[in-house]
Parts: sequence; C-alpha cells; structure tokens
Amino acid sequence: MPVGGRRYVGPVTTTPADLQIDETSRAVLAAGGLRLDVLDHTDAAAYAEWFRAETRGFHGAEPSAAVTEQQHSRLLDGHRLVGVWDPTTPAPDRPVATTICWPADLTVPGRRTVSAWAISGVTVAPTHRRRGIARALMEAELRTAVELGLPLAVLTVSESTLYGRYGFGVAALARDVKISTRRVRWTGPAAPGRIHFVPTEQLAVDGHEIVERVRRETPGQISYDREGTLWLRQLGLSADDDNAKKLRCVRYDDSGGTPQGFAIYRVTENEQDFAEHELTLHALVAATPEAYAGLWRFVLEIDLVSTVTAHLRPVDEPLRWMVSDFRAVRVTEVDHLWVRVLDVPAALGARTYAAAGRIVIAVDDPQDHAAGTWALDVGAAGTATVSAVDETADVIVTASALGSLLLGGVRATALAAAGSVHGDAARLDEMFRSPVEPYLSIWF
Ligand SMILES: CC(C)(COP(=O)(O)OP(=O)(O)OC[C@H]1O[C@@H](n2cnc3c(N)ncnc32)[C@H](O)[C@@H]1OP(=O)(O)O)[C@@H](O)C(=O)NCCC(=O)NCCS
Repeated sequence: MPVGGRRYVGPVTTTPADLQIDETSRAVLAAGGLRLDVLDHTDAAAYAEWFRAETRGFHGAEPSAAVTEQQHSRLLDGHRLVGVWDPTTPAPDRPVATTICWPADLTVPGRRTVSAWAISGVTVAPTHRRRGIARALMEAELRTAVELGLPLAVLTVSESTLYGRYGFGVAALARDVKISTRRVRWTGPAAPGRIHFVPTEQLAVDGHEIVERVRRETPGQISYDREGTLWLRQLGLSADDDNAKKLRCVRYDDSGGTPQGFAIYRVTENEQDFAEHELTLHALVAATPEAYAGLWRFVLEIDLVSTVTAHLRPVDEPLRWMVSDFRAVRVTEVDHLWVRVLDVPAALGARTYAAAGRIVIAVDDPQDHAAGTWALDVGAAGTATVSAVDETADVIVTASALGSLLLGGVRATALAAAGSVHGDAARLDEMFRSPVEPYLSIWF
C-alpha cells in the first residue's frame, strides 16, 4: 500500500474540448491500426458520423437530419466528444467507438457540490468488440479528468458488469415501481395546492428551476443545463422522440400559486379494456412534501388507468406509506449512479460528515489515482480536512468501495461483508452516513 498519494491540482484550467487526446491510450489503439481522437465540435459532418455511431452502439434507429442538427446545436462548450476510427472499414469517417464527457456538479452530503467528469455515450461497434477499445477509452477518460483537475468521474450504466474494473462503485441505487391503482386508496396528507396541465415549452422553463432546487438538496444529483440535451430528453422535446406526442405535463402550484413540482407521464391504452390503461411516469419532481403528495395522488387517481409504472424512483420514496395497500406498490431495486474517486482529499473534503473524529483510510487502487493512506479529520460542524499520512490505517478500502461510500448511502459494513472494506467499517458508517438518501433522477 503506497503512503500518501496524488494531490489535488485545482480547478479546471482548460476547456475539455481543447485538451489533447490521452497519448497512452492513443498509442495502445494505434498499435492495432486504430486512431483515437477528439472530435472537432464545429464540424457538423464529423458530428453527424459520430452521432450515428453512438446511436448504432445503443441499437437506436438511424437518426434523422433534424435530430442530428438539434443534438449538435445543443452541445455545450464543456462537452468533449471522443471517437476511435478504423481506416480499413468501408465507412472510415464513421467512428467504431465513441464517448462524450463533460464536467458536471455532483451534490454530496451537506448540500455541497463537487466537480465530476460525467462519462456517457460509451460504445464500441459490434464489429470491434472485445479487443480492448472500451478499456483504452475509459482509462483515457480517467486520465483526462485528472488532467482537468476533476476529483471524480461519474456515470450511469447499461450493464452493471462493466465499470467496477476501472474503480467505479455503485453510490446511489434507484427503484422501479409498479402500482396496481385499483388496490389503493390515498391515505397520505391532503395537498392544499393545485395541479395544472402545462405546455411542455412552459415546463421547460418552470420545471428546470424546480429541478435545480431539488438537485442542491439531494446527494447524487448532477447539474444539467436548461439548454442541454438531458433536460430536452426528459421533456420529450428531442426531434425523433415518437413517445413525446403522448407525454402530458402537470405542475403543482402551492396555495400561494408558486410552482413546487411537476410530473411528466404517458398513458398507453388497453384496446381490449378501456378501464385497464397503463400510465408510465417519466418524471415526478417535487421540491416540497406537499407537492410530492399532491402529484402522486393526482397520478394514482387518473380515470381509466389501472397500472402505474415509474422508473428511477428514490429508494426512500414514502409513497407506500401514503396508500391503503402496501403490497399494491411493487418495487425492484437497481444500481444507478456509479462514482469513481480520482482525488481523495478533494472528493472526501467536499462533503460533510455525520460524526466528528479521525479515521485513517488506506485506498487500494490498481489504477493508482486514489491510492494512498489518508487521514480524514472531521470537526464538530461536520466539515473535514483530508491529508496524506504515513500511519497505520484504521480501514482499508478498494477504490470502487470508496466510490460507493462517498455519498453516504451504501453501508461500509455491507462492503466489509463482501470483502472490499477491511477494518473499522462500523466507524466508517457512523461518519459517512448521509441524512438524505443519495438519489439520481436521470440517466446520462
Ligand atoms: C460494453 C462495450 C462498450 C464494451 O466494449 P469492448 O471494446 O468490447 O470492451 P473491451 O474489449 O475493452 O473490454 C474491457 C473489459 O471489459 C470486459 N467487458 C466488456 N464487455 C463486457 C460485458 N458486456 N460484460 C462484462 N464484461 C465486459 C472485458 O472482458 C474486458 O475485461 P478485462 O479488461 O478486465 O479483462 C461494448 O460491448 C458496447 O458498446 N456495448 C453496447 C453499448 C453499451 O452497453 N455501452 C456501455 C454504456 S454504459
């Protein structure tokens, strides 16, 4: 176990898109006849090829010119698009692998945020799979984040088998929920405000402000721009989104008329029985408990609907305690946000802790970014200082376990039982637990 470790190099000093490509991964891929490069943002034709490759990588339909142009126009300065090209294919301009990354603010316990490298769009063409391209891309992205001075990398995943090997750990879980509405009667509090249908274009403005309020309160949420594609996609405003025509938006206004929450949903008809329609809840975001109760009640009481399904709901959702039949609400838990700590002092020092005291943590990191022995000193106010030390550790964690622990929603004792934490896991739990359950409400 190395002593000490790398030091925080400070905030981003260069635009991500302007940073040179990682030379180590470039050389690895060049040895196999492949070219790794950063895409020029301003080149619409090159972007169209990159976007087709990314869409194909997730088995999506061939994108139209309209959606390609829309997505291109919504790229932000902080976005960095990377591709791998194979000159021997019949379409050499189309990449065989893609990633898109950008710096985002991740909320951590204590209503604080820390900059993270959000990694998305990781695809490798089926013609080029399992020859180390994804590994080269991921290792390059982690080194790029370090180069940019970002203490963390974050992602959401298509498969939970992919990213542990790069030091990512599951930091926030989410639930899929299925409710049999015929079995439930609302027993929760009455909400004094009003529900209004609102045009999507209006929600695009009002809703983002609510998203921002919720984000700042909730560890695990990441920032996204009102002009960017993540918000556009939630609203169903992507040009190729066929489901969008069926989306309905409602807003909850409190009794003073201030918007405090919204829901976006779609109803799928059951042609055989019109009283058995299914409602899919795309989003329900509430900045107050009152808005939460008002919106859920509205959704559960819509006529002709017998089933409500919702994805990516918080693990501490109180809904089951607000209806007459607990078992009418079925939940399935899934991993959702994965976190990779790259800079231990900056990452651990960004959040607040539940208990004061000192703990010495050794991090075992095969990729070396977080490796070292670190003293975490937490004062009475819950804020911490973190320093590299030459001491015997109280606890030894893998890099992946450290990522899981950062937001305070994963128990160190569970990780100890699984073998990725050794030593005083109970003490880690006392200090790291978060009063607000970590939760990320979107895919990215
Ligand atoms: C997942 C994907 C990116 C992997 O790309 P790849 O170039 O074939 O992966 P690599 O050859 O670099 O493999 C890297 C490591 O991951 C492992 N791996 C790759 N795909 C895996 C999978 N689906 N399940 C488990 N392990 C996998 C490899 O065995 C290898 O392990 P090792 O280096 O520890 O021995 C590619 O299959 C893909 O594009 N899938 C569809 C889109 C997708 O799901 N993308 C991920 C979005 S979160």
